[in-house]
Amino acid sequence: MSLQITHAIRRFGAVEAISDVSLSVAPGERVALLGHNGAGKTTLMKMILGLTHVDGGSISVFGAAPGTSAARAACSYLPENVAFHRALTGREQLRLLARLRGAGRKQADDLLERVDLSDAADRRIGTYSKGMRQRLGLAQALLGQPRLAVLDEPTSGLDPISRGEFYNLVNELADGGTAVLLSSHALTELEARTDRIAILLKGKLVANAPLAELRSQARLPIRLRVAARPENTEEVAGRLGGIRVNGQSVEISCLQGEKLGHLGRIAALETMIEDVEITPPSLEDLYRHYSGRNPT
Ligand SMILES: Nc1ncnc2c1ncn2[C@@H]1O[C@H](COP(=O)(O)OP(=O)(O)OP(=O)(O)O)[C@@H](O)[C@H]1O
Ligand SMILES: [Mg+2]
Repeated sequence: MSLQITHAIRRFGAVEAISDVSLSVAPGERVALLGHNGAGKTTLMKMILGLTHVDGGSISVFGAAPGTSAARAACSYLPENVAFHRALTGREQLRLLARLRGAGRKQADDLLERVDLSDAADRRIGTYSKGMRQRLGLAQALLGQPRLAVLDEPTSGLDPISRGEFYNLVNELADGGTAVLLSSHALTELEARTDRIAILLKGKLVANAPLAELRSQARLPIRLRVAARPENTEEVAGRLGGIRVNGQSVEISCLQGEKLGHLGRIAALETMIEDVEITPPSLEDLYRHYSGRNPT
């Protein structure tokens, strides 16, 4: 395992910000860490990086303790609020860090291009927009082929195109064997882009599985929306026993195991129907389900 967290605890006074959390990330795996504001995502990340101590349990980064030089050499980090020296240019900042991490100037310049900062690379960071600073932070976190990348809300402040490009970079990193742990509040963008979802609720891990597994565990309903021909709507609704919506459509909620049976009945209506739309529970529905539970 690249990262192994075992029964980790972190207290702030009487508050347990991280409560008995066990989580691991394998090489090449992309894990999304979700949770409400204050759930403990940033705290857990800081524990992994050795920026805050661990009160109980243990964390191993490639077999080393967080914050040791071996662990630090393997990790990169994009903090929640990335800050730079305003007077440096983007290129100076990145080349400086490249030197520290033992990466070449060329990689720094290539990365500036990958995050679409080539044109602004020789301007002072003080003149950058929020999204540009965030992209510079990303480039910084990708320097020197980290073996574990810890990214705290990496896409916050990015426009939709930049978000897409960011996930392409994450995929490349993971394909090269880097373990990626990232936190986000933008749920829809994570659906096809992470291998596993971990959900923190008040410091406790309430879910930790691939999306498909969370879907089947949660047993949330699937929605089937059947568009009927106008003259048949009444009959279709009657035969399928669904709810009428928008005049011409009939909606049915069912569990995964019942879906094919319903589809068979719908298909038997032949020319009475125009279309069927199947909507599985979204990550947002799953998130609500898991984060609405009481932590045990
Ligand atoms: N240095 C600190 N001193 C006291 N309490 C802290 C400290 N750092 C974090 N906390 C508390 O720990 C809890 C978890 O905070 P954390 O920043 O990890 O949440 P988060 O999941 O990253 O939230 P967000 O989505 O808002 O970034 C909160 O209750 C917070 O107030
Ligand atoms: Mg945070």
